[in-house]
Amino acid sequence: MTRLICVSSGKGGVGKTTVTANLGAALTQFGKDTVVVDANLTNPNLGFHLGVPLYPKTLHDVLRGEAHISEATYLHNSGLKVIPAGLSIEDLKSTSPNKLGGVLLDLVGEPDVVLIDSAAGLGREAIKAIESSDELLLVTNPNLPAVTDALKTANIAEECGTKVLGVVLNRIRKSPSELSVEEVEAMIGHPVIATIPEDKKVAESLAMKSPVVHHRPDSSAATELKKLAAHLSGSDYVPKAKKRNWITRIFGFLN
Ligand SMILES: Nc1ncnc2c1ncn2[C@@H]1O[C@H](COP(=O)(O)OP(=O)(O)O)[C@@H](O)[C@H]1O
Ligand SMILES: [Mg+2]
Repeated sequence: MTRLICVSSGKGGVGKTTVTANLGAALTQFGKDTVVVDANLTNPNLGFHLGVPLYPKTLHDVLRGEAHISEATYLHNSGLKVIPAGLSIEDLKSTSPNKLGGVLLDLVGEPDVVLIDSAAGLGREAIKAIESSDELLLVTNPNLPAVTDALKTANIAEECGTKVLGVVLNRIRKSPSELSVEEVEAMIGHPVIATIPEDKKVAESLAMKSPVVHHRPDSSAATELKKLAAHLSGSDYVPKAKKRNWITRIFGFLN
């Protein structure tokens, strides 16, 4: 049974595309047949995260009825399938998101998971992505503006009958000014199912055009993203034990 999961947030820049690309890559590593779709039709950039920004056919062509979804599906060298969106202004002007639901239904069958990276805000494009999905991952940051927008998104999802799987709390710096996990859960009314730290390796990976779960698989962000993928696929992810130097070994012994 194919799961259609929308990655949404309300606020822009909180990490939707980062989560989509990495979750897709991690689920593929765990043996799940996974497709990631760039449903951010106005500012698409999922392709950049995967190192392939330009494609001959895109979701824009499919939405205009000029290509079949299979012609706009590309195989990343990791085994992840990618449906990119077009980058041109012409694509932007001439395409409506209205047919997104029907197009995504054409994917149902073969893949285990379809992850839909949505646009920021709660305009027509973002709402179409939410209502075209069965489930939703709410990505947010530990601050009031991001959490307020996430709450609105959760409410819209509930109105659309899209099940909120939980909150992915991203870019945690452990600063005293941040909202805590408990505060975020109390405000949004859904559990936090992943806590991803602020990690320089994320930006480094984007520059290297490779998801952090590939580029820096043992980094703290990659570890939490893989735990999220394991959670979604109903399994456990046990991170590799860190190499212990002589000081930690002595402390371990004393404890
Ligand atoms: N955990 C993180 N640590 C550090 N930088 C991050 C993290 N998550 C996302 N970023 C950075 O934040 C910026 C916005 O992320 P992006 O995924 O494009 O957000 P959105 O899709 O919600 O607009 C990018 O430059 C990305 O590299
Ligand atoms: Mg994005």
